[in-house]
Amino acid sequence: MIKEPAMNFEKKILCIGAGYVGGPTMAMIAFKCPQYKVTVVDINCERIAQWNSDDLPVYEPDLSEIVGACRNRNLFFDTDIEKGIKESEIIFVSVHTPTKAFGEGAGMASDLQYWEKTARDILRYSESDKIIIEKSTLPVKTAQAMEYILSSSNNAIHFEVLSNPEFLAEGNAIKDLENPDRILIGSHDTPRGIKAKDVLIDIYSNWVSADRIITSSIWSSELSKLVSNAFLAQRISSINSISALCEKTGADIKEVSYVVGKDSRIGSKFLEVSIGFGGSCFKKDILNLVYLCRHYGLYETADYWEGVLRINDYQKDRFVKNILNVMFNTLANKKICLFGFAFKANTGDVRESPAIYVAQRLLDEKAKLVITDPKALENAKREFLGINGDIEFIENPYDAASGCDAIAVITEWNIYKELDYDRIFKSMTKPAFIFDGRNILDHQKLFNIGFNIYSVGKQALSIFEKSR
Ligand code: UDX
Repeated sequence: MIKEPAMNFEKKILCIGAGYVGGPTMAMIAFKCPQYKVTVVDINCERIAQWNSDDLPVYEPDLSEIVGACRNRNLFFDTDIEKGIKESEIIFVSVHTPTKAFGEGAGMASDLQYWEKTARDILRYSESDKIIIEKSTLPVKTAQAMEYILSSSNNAIHFEVLSNPEFLAEGNAIKDLENPDRILIGSHDTPRGIKAKDVLIDIYSNWVSADRIITSSIWSSELSKLVSNAFLAQRISSINSISALCEKTGADIKEVSYVVGKDSRIGSKFLEVSIGFGGSCFKKDILNLVYLCRHYGLYETADYWEGVLRINDYQKDRFVKNILNVMFNTLANKKICLFGFAFKANTGDVRESPAIYVAQRLLDEKAKLVITDPKALENAKREFLGINGDIEFIENPYDAASGCDAIAVITEWNIYKELDYDRIFKSMTKPAFIFDGRNILDHQKLFNIGFNIYSVGKQALSIFEKSR
């Protein structure tokens, strides 16, 4: 039991949900606002214990320093949800809302059971008025559902619900939190709504300039988050779709993407070709958008956005088919090393990582897998619990690649650019293949060493290409 310092804090803030968003966001608020007491609660005791240890449950550059600076000073991680609700006047809700796996809307809509349970907990334990802040990305109109639940009791307590979606990107969370492009606050245009909005503006104003704090209605705020993610994912699917055409025509996707991005109206970000996007947000949010559009009978709009997901699946599928095709149409008993398992660099998160799909397809072909990743190996192991297949998990990339027929680069970790590929080539079975799903390696150099190189949206450099 941690003894809290006897201090008069200016505000008491609670966050329900100690995940990838709740943990880092609250750490930043506590770091920037020592005058507030910030408590993060979760029903998962193990997760809370990790937040209270030196081995945080989330890997983010600089996160441990920020947590270390304020933990047990004005930042607390706890499992006592009841106490947290009772003592705090401001409650962020950041529980996870995965895609529904059952019933109506299965595979598309969000599973809101944790969200609803949280609303009911808040209602049960509250003894005074609260501001409730939606932090999880949610289907549009969830705030309204929250309000219905919170007003379902006869007590006189008032709950004012705000929407304040988080735009941080994993692996870059601390930088994004410290220097956000924008803070979005959706509120009701009522005296109480405006007052609650001002309280939240007050919190962010401790370190974010006024021109970056945007206010809107609750519905616009909820929808803007889904649409922002849909637009980002759409850019990736757009460039990935063109990578297929580059491979057929001899154009080079890096050159095409550079030229397109140089148009200041388009901009260069999120035009990096890949094996497909992953992560907990893009697919889930687009599915939500599609579901919402279908619900309102907007079938053309729904189909349009669903196309972004179709291209993403196509890209992952193309990558695997290419490996099979290039390696003489059989992978049985061939050893393939996956360089990276995280859905992007600088995170240990593997949710919706293209690696999961690629690994499963390779196992279906009876390939043997060696998985290496600097941060995601434990999460990767969990993905394969109960799955049959010849899989090894090896942290050292040299040991992982040794004896393999091929390397598939899945995650754009910098370390993979800096390895001694002469040494790796010598240790591999010949002919040795590299499939660079991120186009991060020096292909000509690797070809000169003796590798056969296949990338995305570029011509292959391979002694076998002439014969194909
Ligand atoms: C995303 C949004 O960026 C963030 O604003 C929102 O709050 C949550 O969802 P995140 O999923 O953490 O963040 O990562 P992001 O950097 O957006 O990357 C998502 C996926 O797209 C990754 O798999 C990444 O590798 C891939 N990607 C990204 C590309 O394939 N090409 C690119 O050019 C950029």
